[in-house]
Amino acid sequence: MRKNIVAGNWKMNNDLSQTESLLADLKSQTKSSDAEVMVAPAFTNLYQANEALKSSSIEVIAQNMHFAENGAYTGEISASMLKSVGVKTVILGHSERREYFNETDASLAKKVDAALTNNLRIIFCFGEVLADRKSNTQEAIVESQISNALFHLDADAFKNIVLAYEPVWAIGTGETASPEQAQDMHAFIRKTLADKYGNDVANNTSILYGGSCKPGNAKEIFSKPDVDGGLIGGAALNADDFFAIVNAF
Ligand code: G3P
Repeated sequence: MRKNIVAGNWKMNNDLSQTESLLADLKSQTKSSDAEVMVAPAFTNLYQANEALKSSSIEVIAQNMHFAENGAYTGEISASMLKSVGVKTVILGHSERREYFNETDASLAKKVDAALTNNLRIIFCFGEVLADRKSNTQEAIVESQISNALFHLDADAFKNIVLAYEPVWAIGTGETASPEQAQDMHAFIRKTLADKYGNDVANNTSILYGGSCKPGNAKEIFSKPDVDGGLIGGAALNADDFFAIVNAF
């Protein structure tokens, strides 16, 4: 049975002191849903975050990684480096990395392979831009992003993959996809998985929604049958808001 998950993507926010303060606030929160809870601080704070959350049910995850095991990649972080500081899950394919750092489906496929080789769980992000939505090509865009980066894998690999649909036009804009838009796309994604791998993979893969998910809209979005939680940006930077979303199931 697939899991409900709420993951906070902190992006490039919070120095060490701010991280320690937010983590303390998060630890003081009460979880009233069965959702798995994750937070993704910056690389520089992963070790301290893992130490701070060791006794809690909140998992510390990474926002990215390089595909190489090691080598001449100045400024990059490898899967084994993430594992060495206690990370077990990594976000890949976020639209901001596709846009600002030229990540492609092909380069992401290499990162996916490296993460799975290192037994890391993946939250794989994808989603259409506004022009795609306006031309009603969002399903074709999403299908190509998923198939180009993931469909070389065998069915068993999906035990370590969480999908995150993030319409780019909803990220950081306050223009949240409607619950119906989210459900329509999540149902399409689940059918795409079923067509490729069968119903077992399709029904056991969590599909998260991301894009201006807030305390005021999370309950309705999460109530949809094919929405299994959220990947949260801005609202993850406030402990009360983040746990209002965690408890929205
Ligand atoms: O990865 C989650 C993020 O892209 C969503 O950001 O601020 O729209 O919740 P936000």
